[in-house]
Amino acid sequence: MKNYTDLPYVREFVRLCDIGDRQGFHERNGGNLSYHLSDAEIRASRPLLRGRRPGPWTDVDPKGDVAVPSLGGHWFLVTGSGKFFRNVSWDTEASVALCELDESGAHYRVLWGLRDGGRPTSEFSSHLMNHEVKFRASGGAMRVIYHAHPASLIAMTYVVPLTDRAFTRALWNTMTECPVIFPEGIGVVKWMVPGGREVAVATSKLMERYNNVVWAHHGLFCAADTFDNAMGQMETIEKAARIVMMILSSGRKPLTGITSEGFLAIGKMYGGKIPRRFL
Ligand code: 13P
Ligand code: ZN
Repeated sequence: MKNYTDLPYVREFVRLCDIGDRQGFHERNGGNLSYHLSDAEIRASRPLLRGRRPGPWTDVDPKGDVAVPSLGGHWFLVTGSGKFFRNVSWDTEASVALCELDESGAHYRVLWGLRDGGRPTSEFSSHLMNHEVKFRASGGAMRVIYHAHPASLIAMTYVVPLTDRAFTRALWNTMTECPVIFPEGIGVVKWMVPGGREVAVATSKLMERYNNVVWAHHGLFCAADTFDNAMGQMETIEKAARIVMMILSSGRKPLTGITSEGFLAIGKMYGGKIPRRFL
């Protein structure tokens, strides 16, 4: 292997960006993606970075008020702020950054990428705080955080009450597979200014319970163990939201739907724990 971009995790990262672009989830620079490297992936990456000088240590959050101490020293591959998903495969080195955190988890430096300058996504704080929660909760299994702007889900945030319960029930009810794919439900964050600590705190709190969190009038954050599952969740939730909007725009009152007993039976059959509060 000669190039850093040949590493399997980098190829999967780039592939997700292409799929997301084809799905129309990423107008202009919309959305961002981060991947938390395993120790083995760090070992595989080091020889391919030889001769490169790391960038300067920089605050994770431009205001300097975000730290993820439990991830101190960990490495993350992340899309750059203002970079287009469409361009990640075209010019990977200019579009993404391989970042190392310092021991305090409050500063990062770029080891590879952002060739023409720039910084990691403006949602880096949300990504890292979500990684912190998921790393702990999953014993290190969940390593992908993916944010996109899928249109139907955003539309739904204007007409469905902004509660975990209303969104979970509405989405589960559209396709029988939904409670199989996200049996824990879905969290909702009310509209907030993106890019700061406040929205990162609100999102990561919900990530304790959920793998998918809606940002009202903005988009969706997905946490997953693999790139395939992260995209699978994004696509499933967006398709379900499209069905919700189709039903609402039909102007007809639904004649039928899946019952609470039905959700419970799906949970039993497929091993997902359906929370009682959603029944
Ligand atoms: P970045 O280009 O900084 O990643 O911002 C895009 C986005 O979706 C903000 O929420
Ligand atoms: Zn966004």
